[in-house]
Amino acid sequence: MSKLILVLSYLIACLILNLIMCDNCYQINSRQLPHYKLVKSNARSNQLILSRKMVQNVNECRNFASAKKALAFNYGTENDDHELNIGNQNKRRTRRMCQALECPEIYNFTTLVKDKNYKYYSTYPSIIPTGSNFTLACIPKAGIFVFSSNNLNYSQAQTACQKINASLAHIISEERTNGVAKYILPNTPTFVGLSNRNDEKIWQNEFGESLSCFNYRAWGKGQPSHSKGCVTLVQQLEFGSFWNVVPCNSVLFFICEISPMYKYLYSQKTQNS
Ligand SMILES: *[C@@H]1O[C@H](CO)[C@@H](O)[C@H](O)[C@H]1NC(C)=O
Ligand SMILES: *[C@@H]1O[C@H](CO)[C@@H](O)[C@H](O)[C@H]1NC(C)=O
Ligand SMILES: *[C@@H]1O[C@H](CO)[C@@H](O)[C@H](O)[C@H]1NC(C)=O
Ligand SMILES: *[C@@H]1O[C@H](CO)[C@@H](O)[C@H](O)[C@H]1NC(C)=O
Repeated sequence: MSKLILVLSYLIACLILNLIMCDNCYQINSRQLPHYKLVKSNARSNQLILSRKMVQNVNECRNFASAKKALAFNYGTENDDHELNIGNQNKRRTRRMCQALECPEIYNFTTLVKDKNYKYYSTYPSIIPTGSNFTLACIPKAGIFVFSSNNLNYSQAQTACQKINASLAHIISEERTNGVAKYILPNTPTFVGLSNRNDEKIWQNEFGESLSCFNYRAWGKGQPSHSKGCVTLVQQLEFGSFWNVVPCNSVLFFICEISPMYKYLYSQKTQNS
């Protein structure tokens, strides 16, 4: 009997632990859902099209774009009515074009064209002011990143990113690590948003999300070399791109990630309430 109680309490303890772990990781999945805002009417962006589909309404287009991890989309507004002859009833069906885009307009609408049959929706604002010390780049399906031309230590880099409404880049996915690595100098360790600085003994990104919530790893050979430290991204001709641990007081280039628009909205809301 007491054995049964022991087994039962063990199972319950596991269940509770699991729920806590799942809950942590659940927040990540919901964070990554992009929110598209109407940015311009009577216009269509000429950014590369990831995928296109006929839809019935803008919400269907949103869901389609989201499933494709598009950072923006064009939504057709011209009616394309079809008469469907089903039995004796004529049913009208409206179909509209949905174009999921790889990248949004971020340079003050330089690739936007006038088109009265479209509306342009995006997860990012159309101008991103970063100043002269940074270079902007869009990584398709991942987001907008900025590359510093200054060398700073990890905590200074965190502050520099915050000043432009950004955070050190989240790189825990193949798209992110390989996408971002294309823009860094070869053989030049560059700070990204992954560290293990306190006594928590977990590697986490700048959103407080534990590495254990993700399947992807890009540790270099023999990495992580220390149980504490800050992570750099390294790009080498022979080994490709990988993560390397360095002391957090190293002074290096760094990469920030610009928050999509919905994040501004979210932080404004929480500030106001
Ligand atoms: C964006 O472009 C418009 C029209 O070309 C121009 O008037 C405006 O000053 C630009 N804004 C910024 C912030 O560059
Ligand atoms: C750009 O970097 C230089 C140092 O390289 C610094 O003095 C300057 O304040 C930076 N500018 C901005 C806008 O942060
Ligand atoms: C950062 O976001 C705040 C709040 O939305 C905004 O007021 C501010 O202008 C932004 N700063 C930069 C540099 O984009
Ligand atoms: C980064 O440099 C600043 C200024 O020198 C210093 O106060 C801070 O402790 C350093 N941070 C790290 C993580 O070494």
